[in-house]
This record gives sequence, structure tokens and C-alpha cells, in this order.
Amino acid sequence: MLKLNLDNANLDLSAYADQLPQYRDQLLNRSQGWLDLPETAPTSQILTYAESVKGQFEHLVVLGIGGSALGVNALFKALKHYYWNNLSSDQRQGYPQLHVLDNIDPAVINDIQDVIDPAKTLFIVITKSGSTPETISQYLYFRKLAPKENFVFITDPKKGLLRQIATEQGIPTFDIPENVGGRFSVLTPVGLLPAALLGIDITNLLKGAGEIRDNFLSQEFATNPAYQLAALQYELNTKHNININVLMPYSSPLFTIADWYRQLLAESIGKDGVGITPINALGVTDQHSQIQLYNEGPKDKLIMLIKTLKNSETDNQHVINAEGLPDFAYLNGVTFKKLLDTELTATTQALTKYKTANIQIQIPEISPHTIGQLFMLFELATGLLGELFQIDAFNQPGVELGKVLTKEKLGG
Ligand code: PA5
Repeated sequence: MLKLNLDNANLDLSAYADQLPQYRDQLLNRSQGWLDLPETAPTSQILTYAESVKGQFEHLVVLGIGGSALGVNALFKALKHYYWNNLSSDQRQGYPQLHVLDNIDPAVINDIQDVIDPAKTLFIVITKSGSTPETISQYLYFRKLAPKENFVFITDPKKGLLRQIATEQGIPTFDIPENVGGRFSVLTPVGLLPAALLGIDITNLLKGAGEIRDNFLSQEFATNPAYQLAALQYELNTKHNININVLMPYSSPLFTIADWYRQLLAESIGKDGVGITPINALGVTDQHSQIQLYNEGPKDKLIMLIKTLKNSETDNQHVINAEGLPDFAYLNGVTFKKLLDTELTATTQALTKYKTANIQIQIPEISPHTIGQLFMLFELATGLLGELFQIDAFNQPGVELGKVLTKEKLGG
């Protein structure tokens, strides 16, 4: 089970302990379907489909944006080889390469065509609303390049243009439950289908998520990381003007989890004049980019460090050889894992000395199980933050105007 260590935040959160049942009930009263996904996700349907197309495609291309792209990317980078798309087909054991467009940049639309053969590509079109212009445009473009057998859709069970096209053309389609919004959809077919197509163990992903959800439902404050995290973020924001939260994993594969979380926190909580600005950072890399600001800049940030007890199966194998270099003798015989962990400890101590609020989320290893736990932890904490701020974490009215104006300008 993941662990949350709030010691370095040095705050008394005891006042929140008694309020836990109230906020828990408020969140549950919103009938959010993502809470039930560990049981309700259509795992067998997904695995059956994945098995039926296994070996048929060299590439998967995800056409989607925002919550319909970020979770897929997070799963992919966290759980597959870091250079997956550069591996040979044999090294990938026949599983396809994955490309997530997540934009309509013409350079990307152009360049993707240099690396895929549309005839050997499965296009996974993902849009909850079924009508997001960026995704629909991507689909309308790529459907000219490949037969309809090379498409699978993931969308709302009833609404939207994509659902309509699916019905008209008989394209295989997976549902995103009506009561699950885009940025909370990673554990629906949105994340699960691409993951299964890449051979990721989605059963354990859901199991990990279910454990954190069960913990949230049954545990008191002292043993309830989701509620503790939300209480801390809220307390720091409302009483200490800490309006920036940095998620900083000490693991390159987890960096895209921070990217996914950036959308979750920003779009869920940034409304009605309140909000917390999320920043994604990477340890150790951003020690050489961001830490100067975090240590000596304004005291407006909470740094949420993620530590993995095991970064890889080969943690003990890669040893630095600094023989003959007296100035670097301290590195001689040290593994990269030891260096990474030592830098994390040192950075934590420095942040604390500079009185920069920091906490640590610890996971034993990077696996479907722990990634499921992380997704659910952040979703729950974000949902609870909405209740604490007394806002609806599940809408995004502030993105509408830009959409309306774009349509108008194009004569729509
Ligand atoms: O969280 C949300 O609802 C949004 O950010 C969506 O993920 C994003 O706008 C894409 O929407 P859709 O999945 O409807 O295409």
C-alpha cells in the first residue's frame, strides 16, 4: 500500500478528522461512477477485444485530447519500457507501438504519418462528449487513410457524434459511463483498452485502485491518505496562501502521472475564484531547473515528492566507476539508484530547511497495482478538495467560451 508522509509539512490537521464523514458523504452523494470502476470496469470485454486483435497491428494511434489522452500516456510511460517505440517488434513481443496525438498541431499530424503505416495501425478514437472538435477533426482526417476495420471508439454510451457514427458504421465501441467525466476516466476503457492492447495487467491496476477507494470509505483520518492529502492541500491554500502544488516524482516513467494530475487538479478545482496551480516536476532533473525557486522564491508552494522504493528490476546493477578520480571518490561504487535516493533525501532536507512545505508519497515499486493506487489517491483527494472548497469538481464551465468563439470564427 502506498504511504503518505506529511511530517515535513508540520501542520496540525486534527480539526479535519471529525469532518471526514461529512465530506466523504458529500462526495458520495455526487454519484460519481469512477469510484465504482474497480468493480464495474468491463475488464473481460476489453481483454476479449485485445486478444481478438493481437498481432494484427504494428501501431496504436490514440486520437483524443485532455482526459482522453493524458491517462493513456501516463499508463504507457509508467508501465512499459521507457523507449518502447524504439524497440524491435520481437523485443515488444509483438505488441504494437503507441502514439498519443493529444494535439492538432499540423506538424504532429504530418510527422505521425512518417512513422506509421495506416494499414497496419489501429486508431483508437476517444472522446467522452463524442463531439470535441479536435478529436473529431483528427478522426475525420485519419478515416480517409485507413479502412473502418482499423478503428475502435471509446465514448459516451448514448450521446455525441462519435456514438452516432459508431452505430451507423458498426465500429466496435466501448462505453465511458455517463457519470464519469473526462479527467476521471483513466480507469474506464479510456485507459484500460490501450493498456490491455499493450499487455498491461489491467486487473491489478483496478485492484490497486480499489484498495485505496476501500481505504477511503472505511478508514479514519489517521489512516486515510486521500483525505489527509486533501485536508493538507486545503489547509495550506486557505490559511497559508500556498496556491501552487508541485508533483515531483523521482522517477522518469512517473513524470506523465504528474502531467495527468496537472489537468485533474487544474480543471477540477480552478473555478469560482479559487484554485490551486499544479506544476509537474521531475526528480532529479528539475533540481537543476526548479529547486532554486522552490527553496528561495515565494513561499507559495507545496512540493509533493514521490519516492519509489524500487525504480527498476536492475536497481542494483548499474554501478558508477570513478576509480582514479579523487574528487569523485564519493561516487565510486555507488549505484544510480543510491545516487537518486540520496539526492531525494538531500533535496527533502534542503526544502525543509528553507521552510518550503513538502510531503512524500511512497510506493514500493512501479507496477499496475501501485499506479492504480496513485490514480485513485489523486482522484479521491481532488474530489474531496472540491467538497472542502464547496465547488463542483466535476464540471469545467471555464473552457466553454474558447470553444464557442473558435466555432464562431470558423463560421459555425
Ligand atoms: O475533464 C474533462 O472533461 C475534459 O478536460 C476532457 O477530458 C477534454 O475536454 C476532452 O473531452 P472529450 O473526452 O469529451 O473529448
